[in-house]
Amino acid sequence: MPDRPYVIDEMISAKAIAARVEALAKEITRAFRGTDKLVVVGLLRGSFVFIADLVREIDLPVEVDFLEASSYGDAMQSSREVRILKDLRGEISGRDVLVVEDIVDTGFTLSHVVNLLRSRVPKRLEVCALLDKPSRREVAIKATWTGFEIPDEFVVGYGIDFAQRNRNLPYIGAVHFTGDGA
Ligand code: PRP
Repeated sequence: MPDRPYVIDEMISAKAIAARVEALAKEITRAFRGTDKLVVVGLLRGSFVFIADLVREIDLPVEVDFLEASSYGDAMQSSREVRILKDLRGEISGRDVLVVEDIVDTGFTLSHVVNLLRSRVPKRLEVCALLDKPSRREVAIKATWTGFEIPDEFVVGYGIDFAQRNRNLPYIGAVHFTGDGA
């Protein structure tokens, strides 16, 4: 699959992402004002770029933690089975928690993670997702804050991969296959 030729067409520029990240961080700062500490949980691996930019714009005391969930592996289709590959280092019971996700597609990953984290009884748990593809949803779940709603395109960049490639693109691009069978 990764050897099938493709081009990447820019969908959301680095500049547009930066402006939206700043706006999201302002809303998050306002929503959690007064917290003693906000635990910002990044879902690996796709959220690593987004969380790095987002936390630097949040004007609150923050703790950063990571959880690794995987449902796609290197495939383009969700396996619908979410595996927790790495759990949080810290406790979240009684804490203010913000889950940071790169993209909500079928919703299986986010729903599984939110259920898991809610079972640990945080004081408050909200979700910030950079991208949302509502047309693909199979599980009813919505992030508290969404950066951009996008159409049903396979996207890469700004942390998001295609078979572990293209995570380092500074923008969000759509993968379009070229050549025979495109
Ligand atoms: C991707 C993405 C989201 C999830 C969204 O993760 O980062 O976590 O899929 O899809 P869903 O709403 O259909 O569950 P992936 O399993 O590819 O792992 P990665 O973050 O390490 O790339």
